[in-house]
Amino acid sequence: MSGANDRARPPRVPKHPGDAPPPSRQAELNRAAAGAFANTPTKKAAPAEKANKANGAPPPIEVCNLHKRFGSQVVFNGLDLKVHRGEILGIVGGSGQGKSVLLRCLIGLLPPDRGQIKIFGHDVAKLSLKQRLDIDTRRGVLFQDGALFGALSVLQNIQVPMREHLDLPEKLMRELAMLKLAMVGLPPDAAHKFPADLSGGMRKRAGLARALALDPEIVFLDEPTAGLDPIGAADFDLLIRKLQTTLGLTVFMVTHDLDSIFTVCDRVAVLADQKIVRIGSPLALRRDPGHPWIKEYFCGIRGRNARLHPPATKP
Ligand SMILES: Nc1ncnc2c1ncn2[C@@H]1O[C@H](COP(=O)(O)OP(=O)(O)O)[C@@H](O)[C@H]1O
Ligand SMILES: [Mg+2]
Repeated sequence: MSGANDRARPPRVPKHPGDAPPPSRQAELNRAAAGAFANTPTKKAAPAEKANKANGAPPPIEVCNLHKRFGSQVVFNGLDLKVHRGEILGIVGGSGQGKSVLLRCLIGLLPPDRGQIKIFGHDVAKLSLKQRLDIDTRRGVLFQDGALFGALSVLQNIQVPMREHLDLPEKLMRELAMLKLAMVGLPPDAAHKFPADLSGGMRKRAGLARALALDPEIVFLDEPTAGLDPIGAADFDLLIRKLQTTLGLTVFMVTHDLDSIFTVCDRVAVLADQKIVRIGSPLALRRDPGHPWIKEYFCGIRGRNARLHPPATKP
């Protein structure tokens, strides 16, 4: 896969059109190092949809007719969604509508009852173990509560995916983890702290560093600014935008934070009535809500007051 968003990566040799082979150890090493050192802002990527079409690559995430229920509770009833390469897509919806369930379906933690989920063009229900492992290295996840291992230091937490998927010398792994730490704006002395010793904002950043450990192409974020004070949340928004611009990431961000939506999201998908009822730019949805919940959300007093900044490239 190549394109405007792949500047920081060594080229992959596609085995199938629009796809990449499972990387060799050297390629993994190159990829990890390239990502870790890719802290020079690049030009803003071409509009995501245009980039997708131009390089003929399949969308990084495509969901078709997804059904999911827990007992008698129907969570999704025919949900469709397409995420463009290189975009920051916000997922919004009322509490309990299934935003986190959708994220967990997409990363393979929950099996759909019916329907199809394609990641990088692969139907996740039909993946071999090898393909699944390859996809696991191409995506990172920041769970709602950070989900750091409490018994491990920040450095060790960041190294968990590296130990699981790569075979790197200790020294290099340490250097890479320190670079990831710097990329998310944490000071070097945070490396040896334990999650319990960190503030909420630092824990989120440490979780993000771990999500970036393998230099992924997609990052899934579940309520990244929840629990942060307004300044911490605004800083985190800018960090997400900067990382997306610098690394060419595709970001799938579950959020209810209107400021985040207007500051960083290219598009917003609205989850209601057990499906995605609307998808579009934040401004377009605010201008033309087309659904009672969206009207309430975007045109209520908080929606009207949400700050409307151009996407930032520098924190
Ligand atoms: N593993 C599970 N077992 C049973 N019910 C679940 C499970 N995970 C989520 N749910 C239910 O699915 C619904 C959607 O949950 P969730 O995705 O967490 O909502 P939110 O949109 O707030 O993130 C909720 O009613 C929740 O209780
Ligand atoms: Mg949730």
